[in-house]
Amino acid sequence: MEKIIVKGGNKLQGEVDISIAKNSVLPIIVATILNPRKITIKKVPLLEDVLVLVNLLRELECSVEFSDITGDLIIDTSNLKEIEPSNDLIKRMRASFLIVGPMLARFGRCKISMPGGCNIGSRPVDLHLKGFKKLGVDIESGHGYINTKTEGLKGGRVYLDFPSVGATENLMMAAVCAEGVTIIENAAEEPEIWDLARFLNSMGAKVEGAGYGRITITGVKELKETESFTPIYDRIEAGTFIVAAAITKSKITINGVNEEHLMPCIEKLTEVGVKFKIDGEKMLVDGTEDRFPVDIKTLPYPGFPTDMQPQMMALLSLTNGVSIITETVFENRFMHVGELVRMGANIKIDGRIAIVEGVKQLTGCEVKATDLRAGAAMILAGLVANGETIISEIHHIDRGYTRIEDKFNSLGANVHRIKI
Ligand code: UD1
Repeated sequence: MEKIIVKGGNKLQGEVDISIAKNSVLPIIVATILNPRKITIKKVPLLEDVLVLVNLLRELECSVEFSDITGDLIIDTSNLKEIEPSNDLIKRMRASFLIVGPMLARFGRCKISMPGGCNIGSRPVDLHLKGFKKLGVDIESGHGYINTKTEGLKGGRVYLDFPSVGATENLMMAAVCAEGVTIIENAAEEPEIWDLARFLNSMGAKVEGAGYGRITITGVKELKETESFTPIYDRIEAGTFIVAAAITKSKITINGVNEEHLMPCIEKLTEVGVKFKIDGEKMLVDGTEDRFPVDIKTLPYPGFPTDMQPQMMALLSLTNGVSIITETVFENRFMHVGELVRMGANIKIDGRIAIVEGVKQLTGCEVKATDLRAGAAMILAGLVANGETIISEIHHIDRGYTRIEDKFNSLGANVHRIKI
């Protein structure tokens, strides 16, 4: 078992490089199933979630090579077998359910166990299934399995009750080679949706409107060879380092940002008192000014991202005054509150609302990474806590951040991983 130990008190300085977005890479890896050719995805971070998908593809007899030097992931799905993926891999990550769309497109069938992932609410897949039905898929479920099959995918009009990221991606992939036109209404607008469309279109798909609420997919007979593809930068990793500068009252430079994708975070953190200077993909963050409490409501993009809520809570727990955080995307995403309270934060929860009253100082103690972003919040709190913060269950953190301790230490923090 491994733990991360953070010794608090160091100011940060210098530059940090942001990796390619986990939430872009995962659907893009899965989308290679649609095109039985050698495909190169560039600069892929070796995250635990990426490894789950790599193992899943290998289990289905695809060839997957990874270059440590370039970060190129070379996938060839031409030998893909229609085997039921093992329960263990599917249960480890919710995004593994994204194989259903491409498998339906390739084989007309897919049997899969119900997905797992971060423990942040019940996270059903009803919207994915409702959409598949509109594309001519028969669905049976029971005993923890979902069985989907179709005589041939047919374009249709799908309205999503909620702009689910995963459902939008799964349906886009299923529709790419379906007969006719598919329209997804109330589609998710996250930058990663736009990125998946960019990847699909680079292979000859006809996806229009991705990144907006209405996506139109005109089915093509088959996909073609593609140049290597580089996904977008990780806006949540960048956001985590912005908060690191703010919480430690430091000035740092973040390389690999897209200002537009980060706009919801930039706007909120500007209200908090953080200053930004952005030059292309370089962002200078100045967290040295006074901080102010803010109210946050998580929403689908372009609203404030739920994946930044725990990190912001760590910051606001040290910001003089009362901040209100409302979590509307997930029903159970306040598990980090108990851990922050152990460190001395003053936070009360009422349903989906957290009332955060800023305290002067947090104290280091033993805490858990209750999920991926909650783990990041524990590191951030540890950076300024008195003494040592010892974080367990860090496998959650490794799902979404590569070399997180190296990145923090290169900025002057004191973050170490120990084996016990
Ligand atoms: C993706 C991101 C995750 C992020 C989330 C919201 C990836 C790999 N993960 O997760 O980091 O936190 O978007 O921005 O991209 N829902 C249903 N029925 C469904 C599908 C979803 O009720 O069929 C609900 C979920 O329970 C949740 C909400 O919709 O409450 C958002 O889920 P969704 O947008 O699908 O998130 P994911 O794709 O799982």
